[in-house]
Amino acid sequence: MKVDLEGKIALVTGAARGIGEAIAATLAASGATVVYADVDAKTVQETAAKTPRAFPVAMDISNEAQVEKAVGEILQKYGRIDILVNNAGVNTAKYRVNIDQFPLEEWNRIVNIDLTGTYLVSRAVSRGMIAQRSGRIVNISSVLGVIPARLQCAFTSAKAGIVHLTRTLAIELGEFGILVNCVAPGSTLTEGTKQLFYSDNAAESDRAKRVLSHIPLGRPGTVEEMAHAVLFFVAPESTYITGQTLCVDGGWSAGGFFRDF
Ligand SMILES: NC(=O)c1ccc[n+]([C@@H]2O[C@H](COP(=O)([O-])OP(=O)(O)OC[C@H]3O[C@@H](n4cnc5c(N)ncnc54)[C@H](O)[C@@H]3O)[C@@H](O)[C@H]2O)c1
Repeated sequence: MKVDLEGKIALVTGAARGIGEAIAATLAASGATVVYADVDAKTVQETAAKTPRAFPVAMDISNEAQVEKAVGEILQKYGRIDILVNNAGVNTAKYRVNIDQFPLEEWNRIVNIDLTGTYLVSRAVSRGMIAQRSGRIVNISSVLGVIPARLQCAFTSAKAGIVHLTRTLAIELGEFGILVNCVAPGSTLTEGTKQLFYSDNAAESDRAKRVLSHIPLGRPGTVEEMAHAVLFFVAPESTYITGQTLCVDGGWSAGGFFRDF
């Protein structure tokens, strides 16, 4: 898909690696100037250095003061933000347990980053978008925010919150020419999921088989496939789509049935 983002200023959170890095690189390759934001200050600097027209920013999306400061600095440097991609997010690897065993601290950590962080960055950026009367926001949820799974109640709830926040922001911000949509990735091949599922270790590859048994296309997605869906939503031609969530999941959500994995 050829998309012309020349002259656009984009902010991508969680851009140091994984899906966020691919989204940021794809927007930059389409002509946008891209601010790579991440809590991992060192890695985001190295990642942004790989791309022309990229500017790294250290920011914890769950910290209100850091978000306000970083967005203020971006506006001072570039004068506007045209595209926001709320990609940064975490899940738990340690606590794969039902709710009766799920620690409050872990619940708070995940909800604070995934849901509250998306709210904080959207709030800070939407003020400028309202003033300029244009903008695109794309939130990154998960297939597990559309259909629940057991043993990860904080992640599934926070990601479902993002789907509904997307709809809410779409109806609040539509009158200002701001379009808000959501991409819900299925299982995606990254360094993180390679360690979690897609490794050569026998126990882990058994887990991978259980994950893949949900997916009609029979394989994990690539980070580029996720970035491509984001590019569709921010394309200048995508002018009449808002409040929508697109599952990029190889058909996982179409089946609608979850075993544990
Ligand atoms: N990989 C998958 O299979 C998958 C599936 C569904 C949804 N997702 C979602 O896609 C997004 C990206 O996933 P990924 O697999 O690339 O993750 P990842 O862990 O590889 O990368 C996430 C990035 O976000 C950054 N980050 C974490 N907390 C942050 C914070 N508080 N403030 C700023 N940055 C922070 C990390 O430093 C990291 O660079 C996440 O929202 C994730 O929930 C991923």
